[in-house]
This record gives sequence, structure tokens and C-alpha cells, in this order.
Amino acid sequence: MLAVLAAATAPENLSTFSPASPAAEWTRELFVLVAAITGGILVLVEGVLFYALIRSRRRTGPADAEPPQVYGSKPIEIAWTLAPLLVVFVLVLLVGRVLWEVRPDPVAASAGVQPLHVTVIGHQWWWEYRYDTYDGRDLGGIVTANELHIPVSPPNGVQRPVYLNLQSADVCHSFWIPRLGGKTDLLPGRANTMWLQANEPGLFLGQCAEYCGTQHANMLLRVVVESPEDFERYLAAEAKPAADPTDKVALANKEAFRSQSCVNCHTVRDKQDTRANGTFGPDLTHLMARKTIAAGMIPNTPENLRKWVFSPESVKPGCLMAGFDLGEKDMKAVIDHLTTLK
Ligand code: CUA
Repeated sequence: MLAVLAAATAPENLSTFSPASPAAEWTRELFVLVAAITGGILVLVEGVLFYALIRSRRRTGPADAEPPQVYGSKPIEIAWTLAPLLVVFVLVLLVGRVLWEVRPDPVAASAGVQPLHVTVIGHQWWWEYRYDTYDGRDLGGIVTANELHIPVSPPNGVQRPVYLNLQSADVCHSFWIPRLGGKTDLLPGRANTMWLQANEPGLFLGQCAEYCGTQHANMLLRVVVESPEDFERYLAAEAKPAADPTDKVALANKEAFRSQSCVNCHTVRDKQDTRANGTFGPDLTHLMARKTIAAGMIPNTPENLRKWVFSPESVKPGCLMAGFDLGEKDMKAVIDHLTTLK
């Protein structure tokens, strides 16, 4: 029992049975209700079947006698047509209501409501997050990857609904944080929307839920739900440009990074220049603020960064980043520079 309770709060909990947002709660309620209705029907049908089996298990007449044959009974036929129709009708209404409820129209910022709007772009095989607005403020320019931070919205406090605008850069993906809501697809050439509202702080994990190629299983989702104060601090830190090099070595490391082709795919927002402005890979401006690399696969440590830059293929076979055999000196410079991107 204790183990079960501990598992219920562990970050690796991906159970739809411990919802932490209204949409996930309603989905669970719907599941329980539908399971109860269909379970009741199962018990009823099986009950009648077993009753008939047990009652008729002994023959009463001669061995070759035919049992009584019953042809046509209007009341019975009306009953077994109407009853399932009624059940299906009720189920359709229940599902329809929840489908309607879990996708409300965005509300505007007001005294008790601080909505957050984020654009989520699915890539093979990572997530891009573009913070649009929070509490009516424009956040354009905050771009990050693989780790979505959102403010907590306690059940009886200020409402902080999170509206996601889901898009894809390549193929179909699906955004799924089991404890925060159902799955919503990210489709090329169209935008889907989704609503989250986390009622407790913590780390919520998820998984791309639509097969999208060889590394689909490693397209992991991380949502950090934090207090509004921590979230404001997060936004302030992410909005800043990358820190300036503080000494000659750091400056040389930065030059080493910028002279590599890393900058064709990755952006580092920088006060001085915009040489690193690629958008094919994750934004690295505040790379070290993220706990993992490779879309949640491995911890973000200097050793893992080095392994990744040298051979992404060995960590995530099939991934679209090429390996860089930079040689000892340049590799050290590049990794040292990356670890300053806090
Ligand atoms: Cu992205 Cu599966």
C-alpha cells in the first residue's frame, strides 16, 4: 500500500488515474462512468447466460426430444433494440459533454485569471516551446525546448489556464501528459489547441503519442509546474540574452562555438551578434536551465553534452543531428561554452 502511495506522487507517475488538472479529472470520471455502465451490462448479460446454463443443464424430457422452439416476439425484439440504443445514446451524450468541456475557448486575462499561451512545435524528435503571452503580457522571444514550465493553478486560487497552440514542423506528433490531459495531435499545416490547468506543483512527464519515426519512443515530454513566483523568475531568466563571456578564455570558447556549423541549426540569443540563429534544432540560449538533453533522454551534464555533440547517433540512433569530431581542443572549448549558457 505504501509503495502504491509513493508511486502516486513520484515524477515518473504517468497514470491517468491520478489526474492533476480538471481536463484529466473529467476524463477519468468519464472512464469510470463508462466502465461502470458497460461493466453493469456485462454482469447482466453473463448473469442471464449462466442462469440459463445452470437451470437447463439437465435434460428433463427424452434424449432425442427437441426443446420448445420460440419464433418472433415483438415485445422482446423491441426491448433488445431499444435498450442498446438507449445505452449508446447515453454514452454519446456523456462523451460529447467531456469532449466539449476539455477544449474550452481561451479566457482573457482579468483580476482572477492569468492565462498563459504557448506555441508548441513538434519536431523529429524533440519539442519546441514558444511563449506567447502570460497574464496579458507579450512574451514573444522566449523560445526553449523539451521542458515546458507553467504556473500552478490551485483549485481555489487565481486561475492560470494554459492554452497550447500545437503545430508540427514535419510529421504528425501527439502531445500527451497523462496526468494533465488527454492526447492532442500536432499536424503539419494546421494548428490544434489544448488546455492544461495544473492544480499542484511538480514535474509531470509525458510522451509523444503518435508514431513519428524511428525515435518516436524517445520523444519525451517534461512539464514543470511551479509557483507563480518561480514561474515569473523563470520567464525573466529565459527572456535575457545569453550571458557575456567574462574573461579571455570564455571569449575564445564562444568564438570556437560560433565558428562551428552548430550555429546553422541552433540559436543562441546574444546581445552582440546574431550569428547563431539556426532554427532547425533546439534554442540553446539557456541550455543549462534544462535538466535533460535529447528530449528527456539523458541528464544535461557536461559529460553527456560532450557525448552528444561527438555522436548523437550513439545516444539517439536515427536522430537528425550530425556528429562533430572536433578534436580535443575545440571540443573542450565548445562544451565549456555550452555550459555557460545558463
Ligand atoms: Cu513525435 Cu511520436
